[in-house]
Amino acid sequence: MNLEQLKKELAELSDETKKAIAEIKSVDALRSLETKTVGKAGPIGSLLGKIREFSPEERGAVGQTVNLAKKELVAMFAAAMAGIKSVAADAEASKASDYDPTLPGTAVRIGCAHPVTQVQWQVEEVFQRLGFLIETGPEMETEYYNFEALNIPALHPARDMQDTFWLENNMVLRTHTSPVQVHAMQRHGAPLRVLAPGRCFRYETIDASHENTFHQVEGLMIDKHISIANLIAMMKLLLQEVFHRDLKVRLRPGYFPFVEPGFELDMSCAICGGSGCATCKQSGWIEILPCGMVHPSVLRYGGIDPEKYTGFAFGLGLTRLAMMKYGVKDIRGLNGGDMRSLVPASRLAGPVILEKAEAVKGGSSC
Ligand code: DAH
Repeated sequence: MNLEQLKKELAELSDETKKAIAEIKSVDALRSLETKTVGKAGPIGSLLGKIREFSPEERGAVGQTVNLAKKELVAMFAAAMAGIKSVAADAEASKASDYDPTLPGTAVRIGCAHPVTQVQWQVEEVFQRLGFLIETGPEMETEYYNFEALNIPALHPARDMQDTFWLENNMVLRTHTSPVQVHAMQRHGAPLRVLAPGRCFRYETIDASHENTFHQVEGLMIDKHISIANLIAMMKLLLQEVFHRDLKVRLRPGYFPFVEPGFELDMSCAICGGSGCATCKQSGWIEILPCGMVHPSVLRYGGIDPEKYTGFAFGLGLTRLAMMKYGVKDIRGLNGGDMRSLVPASRLAGPVILEKAEAVKGGSSC
């Protein structure tokens, strides 16, 4: 081999290496090619080993040529290494930029809807399926809608049954959800199906079963030929959906000035199944809601002709229903958000319920 041949070989090695480097994408592959090319066992190593084959005068030039080529190759590898590393760094940086701190996070489901809210949602769902509108009505009410339009004129003894908070503007905190009956009749006319859940207020002495603030749900259905049979059928369906059981109902006479006839509807005790226990005071029955056929005067107050239409109404104590369903013995626990009542209620196994759709499906507390 002469010097010219050596230079040619080195030039070829440089070209091949350049091409091979262009194909390489990883740091490890580049390092291994570098070792193979410029390491002792590679072509450069073997060419350096061949220096001895040259005459002593030529050896200096040969050594310089091989070393220069080696230096150039090493520089080529260093440049390629820097390139690969910067591509990797860019990829890493762009991966990091996929993170968008403004995206909404994963909701942590803490707590659950209040038992009264859950029961309200379940009742709403049953009646919405039957075509009832949901109306809430005002919590601050006029004396007219709270009493007079419900056939309870001033000085009527029925007013004494509802210890009322009177406001300085002569309005009242509504004592029941029944005023929504008249609002809804006036707004929509007949035929009408409306459900009115909401908060009510009475000046009560607070004990285990009385609160000054509680929830009711009013139901009203007006159409041609509505009878007590419609009322009973709907109440049975409601109880079946809320308690997930086929419960018996019975009617007893009850007096409310805005219905005629008026009833107290009892359901067979959900605890003992009707055989008698402490909860139902051994009677097998639990008083669940007052109801009746809407009084003709109330229909007239609502602008509806009682000669053409009849209807039924009921007023369900939502707070009481939640107490029964979740076994809460003291109403104060439900109202004050007392965990000693709310947590045992929540022990009734089931998923965390935060939305109406879940309450309706699961029907149990969190
Ligand atoms: N509003 C009555 C109350 O709170 C309950 C009631 C009784 C509502 C009879 C009704 C009904 O709709 O028909 O005492």
